[in-house]
Amino acid sequence: MTARRTPVRHRVSPHRYPHSQASERFAGRGNPRVGLPPPEQVEQATDLAVRNGFHNVSFREGYIEDLPFEDAPFDVVISNGVINLSAEKARVFEEARRVLRPGGQIVLADIVSDRQLPESVKADADLWAACIGGAEQVDSYTSLVEAAGFEVQEVTENTRYEFVSDRAANACQKYGVKSISVRASTSST
Ligand SMILES: C[S@@+](CC[C@H](N)C(=O)[O-])C[C@H]1O[C@@H](n2cnc3c(N)ncnc32)[C@H](O)[C@@H]1O
Repeated sequence: MTARRTPVRHRVSPHRYPHSQASERFAGRGNPRVGLPPPEQVEQATDLAVRNGFHNVSFREGYIEDLPFEDAPFDVVISNGVINLSAEKARVFEEARRVLRPGGQIVLADIVSDRQLPESVKADADLWAACIGGAEQVDSYTSLVEAAGFEVQEVTENTRYEFVSDRAANACQKYGVKSISVRASTSST
């Protein structure tokens, strides 16, 4: 493998993301990385990368359910706090799998729940936007990762993750909403 092309995402949220540092490490100087920031931030992200000498980093417009890449150009896909916001998580993991070379890895941090969320929480737009309403039950989440063709290697809880509003904190306590990191690989053949 000559190029390690890694989609990265940018921090844009008021929440605290302990794993944003992982994105920053991945975006270090070296092999090519491609990020998918929100469309309105592509120009700014590109400008920042150029001004700071990250010539290996570029940015594209696109959505995680329909990645703007051909099949299998990447070694690693990383994502931080984004997949919970998608209503099509199975499709997101299938797309991540599609753009990875054999033996590639997905490394992500995301919000999940211990218990299945009730419809009243899932249908609440404010809680969805707060990264709570879209939290998949954790076993169901890892099953979706596996169903897309990954072998889950590691699941760890990010105990330092904090939700900022009282409403969000209450929902977290009631349903066990929490941040986890997941590392999973595709088969090498
Ligand atoms: C909570 S923030 C993630 C935080 C950020 N990744 C970080 O490390 O600090 C969620 C981000 O996901 C993006 N997003 C939401 N749904 C998306 C989708 N379907 N495809 C691509 N990006 C999406 C939003 O624009 C927003 O930038």
